[in-house]
Amino acid sequence: MERGNGMRAVDLILKKKNGGVMSKPEIEWLVDGFVKGKVPDYQMAAWMMAVCFQGMNPQETGALTDVMMRSGGMVDLSALPGVKVDKHSTGGVGDTTTLIVAPLVAACGGTVAKMSGRGLGHTGGTLDKLESVPGVNVEIPMERFFEIVKEIGLCVMGQTEGLVPADKRMYALRDVTGTVSSIPLIASSVMSKKLAAGADAIVLDVKMGTGAFMQTLPEAQALARTMVEIGAHMGRRTVALVTDMNQPLGMAVGNGLEVREAIELLAGKIPSGDPLYEVSMLLASHMLLLSGLAKNEAETRAKLTQALTSGAGLQKLGAMLRALGGDVRCIEDPDSLCIVEKKIPVALGAAGYIAAMRAEEIGVAAQLLGAGRATKEDHIDPAVGLVMHKRQGMHVAADEPVATLYVNDPAHVEEAAALVRAAFTLSQEPPASMPMVYDVIS
Ligand code: URA
Ligand code: CA
Repeated sequence: MERGNGMRAVDLILKKKNGGVMSKPEIEWLVDGFVKGKVPDYQMAAWMMAVCFQGMNPQETGALTDVMMRSGGMVDLSALPGVKVDKHSTGGVGDTTTLIVAPLVAACGGTVAKMSGRGLGHTGGTLDKLESVPGVNVEIPMERFFEIVKEIGLCVMGQTEGLVPADKRMYALRDVTGTVSSIPLIASSVMSKKLAAGADAIVLDVKMGTGAFMQTLPEAQALARTMVEIGAHMGRRTVALVTDMNQPLGMAVGNGLEVREAIELLAGKIPSGDPLYEVSMLLASHMLLLSGLAKNEAETRAKLTQALTSGAGLQKLGAMLRALGGDVRCIEDPDSLCIVEKKIPVALGAAGYIAAMRAEEIGVAAQLLGAGRATKEDHIDPAVGLVMHKRQGMHVAADEPVATLYVNDPAHVEEAAALVRAAFTLSQEPPASMPMVYDVIS
């Protein structure tokens, strides 16, 4: 059992369990000890469970974030020109905004040097989406990443091995000890990675609803405020949106399918008013504001609309895919990304208005078809998943397909179709329409 500086892990667990406030040296001792293997998993897990019940004040959460951020190597982006702006979504379904906003922001003169992760469970990961384009390699050396950003204004790469090892180990433990859903633990996990990745400005998209970590607006706002305060305290311009995850953000759920949808949006084929369009525009808008490239939202809207209609945004996406070794024929022919053996329509067998369309079930259905991993070792089929045909609030006939499954392996088709059906709640009256964006916190 680890002790040092007169500290013992059991005393720190008891302190938090009894509602005490941890000092920064105490948090540092615990996290450092854990990363070095001196504080065992069971004591870290017990402490994190105490944090779940007792919470942490802003000083404690800030200290935890700082200690986690410095637990490994940090990225210095200062050699790159301009304000480096990053974005992060807290795990959505059908959320392909990175592949839309990074090219749009770059097309408007911004600099996006971004590290992304892989998908796990029912939420997708940007790296897996990028790899659905033949030839793309996201595990590039840091020098190449800098070159690409200098040349075209954007690059998304895989998070480097040594970035925030404390989070890697803590998250693995949280996942299996029921300690994921804690605002200070989520905020420090997300922000330690964003801060270590080096951006000057950060736009966060906090999801709220049935498919998200935060299921109510007050909880989502509290998480958003906590992360914005951490960012500000660390000298980074930070803004958080709270957006809806009571239905998938885009219509496509699956890797190649989501890249196709991003290409279609950047090609001007998805209209304003669509949730993916609106949330992407708002995220990009705040990224431009934080970058100092526009004075107000009217100006960012004008610039972004120009980047869309001129095709400049789509050109940036193509340039990045090419720089990563990708075959860019998909820009002209996005259907090539989702060629499957079978497309299977799913109808509900009942008519009514769509009152709810739970994102989590839909995400799990896509995962079952092979679009996502249950464990880190699972293989992903880039072409499979599903495309929704309806939005919350729309009317649907009994035999009308609400989704189409894109299938290569027939093994879990029945289960996936059943999950899609179970995701829907119908009502006989038109339901109240749900907002796409609940709050902007800066
Ligand atoms: N995403 C993260 O990176 N960490 C969390 O704790 C939750 C979501
Ligand atoms: Ca995440």
